[in-house]
Amino acid sequence: MSRVAYVNGRYVPHREAVVHVEDRGYQFADGVYEVCEVLGGRLVDETGHMDRLERSLRELRIDMPIGRAAFGVVLRQVVRRNRVRDGLVYFQVSRGVARRDHVFPTSGTRPALVVTARSSNRDAAEATAARGIRVITLPDNRWERVDIKSVGLLPNVLARQAAKEADAREAWFVDQDGFVTEGAATNAWIVTRDGELVTRQADSGILKGITRTTVVKLLAKRGLKLVERPFTVKEAQAAREAFTTAATMVVMPVIQIDDMPVGNGHPGSLTGELRAAFHSVAEIA
Ligand code: PDD
Repeated sequence: MSRVAYVNGRYVPHREAVVHVEDRGYQFADGVYEVCEVLGGRLVDETGHMDRLERSLRELRIDMPIGRAAFGVVLRQVVRRNRVRDGLVYFQVSRGVARRDHVFPTSGTRPALVVTARSSNRDAAEATAARGIRVITLPDNRWERVDIKSVGLLPNVLARQAAKEADAREAWFVDQDGFVTEGAATNAWIVTRDGELVTRQADSGILKGITRTTVVKLLAKRGLKLVERPFTVKEAQAAREAFTTAATMVVMPVIQIDDMPVGNGHPGSLTGELRAAFHSVAEIA
């Protein structure tokens, strides 16, 4: 089946989907993006992802490329035209196409919008979750505005590659004081020996994950204790459970951090419960 992408107002065959060489996203990483889970052909937590997209755009003074209602229609069209039941929809907005110059282009420059979607293998994802994943830790060498979901992801790319080369699935970044900030493309969590769920507060040191926010809601619903504070690598290695969250992984058990097993080296039971219950709390539309 041939894939379809949306590029600036047109649905085009994926292999012919191109942006201009002077797109500022391409030249300056001057753009932002979102990844939204698709479940049964519907969008998971669209409101949260759209709110965050609008926030990222506001922070960078880029206009919304199209209205929010039209945006929702385009996302669903791309999902439908690619026959995605379970998978992901990716959307990216850049400041648009203009003669290369660092300063913002003239106000008439239209922001550029690209949307793609692809299916993922749910059985494979569940098998991975049943095994759990390994993470490595690396110094957080990113800029201080990681709360903006910018397409400038070079440190994240290098961290994920380092993880892969170490036979791990994710890299957790560590700040100068030894505290975990977040993963290369996920938020980081632990369950303490006392059964508290700990994740770093959503200040400017992390991206405030939409999955993270839904897990916070799930914890409240279950009466589980949430503590938003930093934790060290050592504390995470000694924790009862650890997991990592993102639209691409939902709630993913972490069974090893660097060379140390977490808990008994198997996915934690609470983590498994949160993964199983996640979509009962998420918005699915
Ligand atoms: N990444 N932290 C970072 C640095 C991320 O890139 C992501 C998401 C998250 C989790 O956010 P959310 O729960 O809203 O997916 C945290 C996306 C999935 C990606 O780049 O593929």
